[in-house]
Amino acid sequence: MKEDKMNDMQATPSLAGRVAIITGGGQGIGRVFAKGFAAAGAKVGIVELNEEKGQSVATEVDQQSGPGTAISIQADVADPAAVEAAVAAVANKFGRLDIAINNAAIFSTLKMRGFEEIPFDEWSAVMRVNVDGVMLVSKACVPLMRAQKHGRIINISSGVVTMGRPFYLHYVTSKAAVVGMTRAMAREVGTDGITVNAILPGATFTEVERETVSAEQKSQILNMQCIKRHETPEDLLASALYLASDGGGFVTGQSIAIDGGTTFR
Ligand SMILES: NC(=O)c1ccc[n+]([C@@H]2O[C@H](COP(=O)([O-])OP(=O)(O)OC[C@H]3O[C@@H](n4cnc5c(N)ncnc54)[C@H](O)[C@@H]3O)[C@@H](O)[C@H]2O)c1
Repeated sequence: MKEDKMNDMQATPSLAGRVAIITGGGQGIGRVFAKGFAAAGAKVGIVELNEEKGQSVATEVDQQSGPGTAISIQADVADPAAVEAAVAAVANKFGRLDIAINNAAIFSTLKMRGFEEIPFDEWSAVMRVNVDGVMLVSKACVPLMRAQKHGRIINISSGVVTMGRPFYLHYVTSKAAVVGMTRAMAREVGTDGITVNAILPGATFTEVERETVSAEQKSQILNMQCIKRHETPEDLLASALYLASDGGGFVTGQSIAIDGGTTFR
């Protein structure tokens, strides 16, 4: 590449003119993504079960990046009609749809326990949100992306898939399904300029305290990492921005572990 062209490239890719849906953007990783994508120039549609939290993050994004940058739509990603309506509302508001970040999941509220102890209702709810939700949001977004011959789907899986982490079998199973879905969907939509990738975060510490993570577990987590500090949502942001950018257009079907070197694939 010529030097002048390289000088034009920015460390943070610009998403100016792009529109991103971020599911579960009302707290944690999704909240940081909403702010980070807006800072990179994208308009942001938060699709969130918790109306108050979604709205609060949309307000935060507007205060940071200017009025009219974000909207929040209350929806359950496991409800097909609600997802169709939410995706249409974001596309109508901002005039297009380029990026879908499937981040919503039943996660921080889960209790760790042996798989025989998991109530079947809880198992089913995790599958509906963490697996069906990813498929339903993608299914609603792909026709709009196909029409534009451009799209980026980024699924938030988890490093627990590679580790085979015990005591939340429903969660690990759901996140493994997301990796398979990512690969197979990438093959179906690539001809339309749509990429589908998964990010596999390690144990990521957000503003939400998780009772199930004890002090002993925190130190075990650090022991497993090559980089000896706790992961934050900001550690995931640069990779998500890259995958969403024009420069990420030749990367698809991949599962990218961002976990301070806990797992190697
Ligand atoms: N934090 C971690 O250590 C970690 C590690 C690996 C992967 N992940 C994954 O990253 C993503 C975000 O993690 P987090 O720590 O921010 O989680 P979190 O539990 O703090 O936040 C999840 C968000 O999703 C929303 N949500 C839940 N069910 C929904 C539904 N049916 N419809 C719409 N929104 C719904 C919640 O209201 C919440 O705002 C999840 O997919 C999680 O599985 C997290």
